This record gives sequence, C-alpha cells and structure tokens, in this order.
Amino acid sequence: MVAQAHQLVARSIRPGVTTKYLDSLVEDFLLSKGAIPAFKGYHGYPATICASVNEVVVHGIPNDVPLEEGWILGVDIGAYVDGFCGDSAWTYPVGTIDSNAQRLLEVTKSALLNGIEQAVVDNRLSDVSHQIQSVVEANGFSVVRDFVGHGIGRKMHEAPQIPNFGAPGRGPRLKAGMTLAIEPMVNAGNYHVQVQQDNWTVVTIDSSLSAHFEHTVAITDEGPVILTAL
Ligand code: MF3
Ligand code: CO
Repeated sequence: MVAQAHQLVARSIRPGVTTKYLDSLVEDFLLSKGAIPAFKGYHGYPATICASVNEVVVHGIPNDVPLEEGWILGVDIGAYVDGFCGDSAWTYPVGTIDSNAQRLLEVTKSALLNGIEQAVVDNRLSDVSHQIQSVVEANGFSVVRDFVGHGIGRKMHEAPQIPNFGAPGRGPRLKAGMTLAIEPMVNAGNYHVQVQQDNWTVVTIDSSLSAHFEHTVAITDEGPVILTAL
C-alpha cells in the first residue's frame, strides 16, 4: 500500500502542484484501500504524508505553496495494514533539477540500497549504518546525526534505533524475521540540522539541500526483502 501510494505521488508531482494536494491524494488512496495512515495524529502530527522541500530534511508539513521547477521534494508515507506498519520515503525531483541535486538524490538512494544489502543474517546492526555512511561520505555529502531509522512491526517505531553512521561490527546481531525501517537523511552541506518553530519541520542549518530515502525491510534466510517496493 505504501509503495502504491508512492507510485501515485510519483505520477502526480509537477511544478504548480501543492504538497497539501499530494497529501489528500495519498490519504484518499490509503483510506480507499482500508489502510490506516500512520503519521496523522502521531504525537499530534497533522497530515498523512511528510513533505520536505529542498533544505527541509524530514517532517515537513504539507502546505499550499505550489512546487517549483528545480526543487526536490521528500515524501514520507506510513500506513498500517492488517495490524502491521510500513514506512517509506522517497525524494523526488520537481521537473528538471540541477546536476548537484540530481547527484544528491542518486547518492542517497544508493546509500540506502547499499545499507539494505548489509541487512543479512549474522551481520550486526551497525554494519548497515557504517555502509550507509561510507557511501555518503565517499561522495562528499554528510549524514544527518539527529534522526535515525528504527525497528518497525505492529508499531511504526520499535527498537532498535538505526543510525546512518558509525563503526561496523556493533549492536545486535541480525536475525531472520526482524523488520527494519532504514532511512538515510543526507545533506549536501554539513550534517547539522534544527527544528523550526512549528516543532516538526527539520531544516539544514547551512540551508543546503537534503534528501531522504527510506524502505521497510525484512531480514530473511534468503537475504533482505524490501517490503515497500512493488
Ligand atoms: N518515517 C518517519 C519516521 O520514521 C515518519 C514519522 S513522521 C511523524 O519517523 F509525523 F509520524 F512523526
Ligand atoms: Co521511518
């Protein structure tokens, strides 16, 4: 359901569209499928999606500002189906974007996918974290420290926390049946972020662009399975 909602967003993003409109599209879609939006009402969060434009890192609240050509938009979607939660974020280009923004999206997506490859039985949790950090820093970008991924299952946020940085070989040993939400947040500038007055919107302190990709992943004896991809 979360993956299908992202497909809907991908088809609908263009200059002139507002993030409130995208929020209503996703909410209507999830409800029509009997899925329950996971974010709305979570600690008072007011919307179904998070919509994080340009220097907004995560947790942007949908608004009435029309998207402009050249922007990037992070869309985070979570939903409960049959008592289990899925959580996935993707950063989309609005129309044509410049080459540095394009590179930021590609590196962040590749950091996520490389991290997921480390989500295998008998690895340790921080092997995932370390792999993500390595990919990001090898490409000259920085990993946000103040927000992390998480275990996920019957609740959206379960133990353990999953940093996107750190030394390998630490933390719990990974076992078949664990389900993780892995979600690198990557800044084009330095890694420092701050929360705005609305108590939700997280922005880069240096106003550099930021990207966010997230999948919910199951660890199995046959390797990692991405549950939020079609
Ligand atoms: N993917 C985000 C997370 O894992 C979504 C939470 S947004 C909130 O924390 F609004 F629900 F807080
Ligand atoms: Co998450």
